Amino acid sequence: MRVFITGASGWIGSAVVPELLDAGHQVTGLARSDASAAALTAAGAEVQRGTLDDLGSLRRAAAASDGVIHLAFRHDIAFSGGFQAAANADRRAVETFGEALAGSDRPFLIASGTLGLAPGRMATERDGRDPGAAAHLSGGPQTRHATALMTLSLASRGVRSSVVRLPPTVHGEGDHGFLATLVGIARDKGVSGYIGDGSNRWPAVHRLDAAHLFCLALEQAPAGSVLHAVADEGVPVRAIAEVIGRHLGLRVAAVPPGDAGGHFSWMGAFIGIDSPASSALTRELLGWQPVHPGLIDDLDKGHYFHHPSA
Ligand SMILES: NC(=O)c1ccc[n+]([C@@H]2O[C@H](COP(=O)([O-])OP(=O)(O)OC[C@H]3O[C@@H](n4cnc5c(N)ncnc54)[C@H](OP(=O)(O)O)[C@@H]3O)[C@@H](O)[C@H]2O)c1
Repeated sequence: MRVFITGASGWIGSAVVPELLDAGHQVTGLARSDASAAALTAAGAEVQRGTLDDLGSLRRAAAASDGVIHLAFRHDIAFSGGFQAAANADRRAVETFGEALAGSDRPFLIASGTLGLAPGRMATERDGRDPGAAAHLSGGPQTRHATALMTLSLASRGVRSSVVRLPPTVHGEGDHGFLATLVGIARDKGVSGYIGDGSNRWPAVHRLDAAHLFCLALEQAPAGSVLHAVADEGVPVRAIAEVIGRHLGLRVAAVPPGDAGGHFSWMGAFIGIDSPASSALTRELLGWQPVHPGLIDDLDKGHYFHHPSA
């Protein structure tokens, strides 16, 4: 397939691109900078220069492709007060792709998240599929959820659309996301913290396993699929804090819920959530089987602790 991919230079996209190329697909990636374009070229992909706001260019690229994977998201503004603007830009891009692909039966995949889908119990691919499921959300997160539902509804307009939900911790060597942030906070504060008794669970996946799922979904997922890129269903946050504390030689301690924002900054809103997720239906549907290290084993490999700024 000729695949058009946004966010191809990002943490997950830069693993999806080689996965697609290895599977024999041709890949064109959206790049908004010289550095991203150079990275894509080095990986063996074609480059389409532009941003998420260049809707005409997104439309043309989608129309010229056999399938689209949309991974770009304006994380540069999302976690510094601009989540709504980031979600709006995302929404416009998804609408544009939907229009370009309508009636083609071509695959269209977007990334979404598992965090907060069904707090306190194991979330499955069946959760979060009705509009009421987002009633507890507001602002940008609500917009993002609506965008995922809109993507699924494209199935009735002749698009083989799927939503791939990622756990908060898509981990691996070179990670600058949630897990690397937790390591950085522990280093800065001199204590590796968790909320309450730390028994709240986070699901996780290795970046390379997630990338393989995107490839399988592109090739095989039926229209309107929700897929969970989940390898570890729920790792207690205390267990994560303990490995971080051991590697950094720091005390491991509970942080009172009221201090979550002060201690963990923007992560304070997420760190105490109990949000395990299953991928049993995804594995059954696509034969996906994670093979890379789980979260604790990956942390224990030590690469999260080598860089002093991590
Ligand atoms: N990583 C996780 O743990 C996780 C968990 C749940 C959901 N997700 C979702 O999965 C998707 C991929 O995440 P990621 O971790 O790979 O993100 P990332 O590393 O931050 O990469 C974001 C990508 O989007 C591109 N981008 C950002 N703004 C753009 C714009 N205005 N125009 C064009 N391209 C733009 C970036 O390009 P540059 O290279 O030029 O910056 C980069 O390629 C996102 O939708 C994210 O929200 C991720």
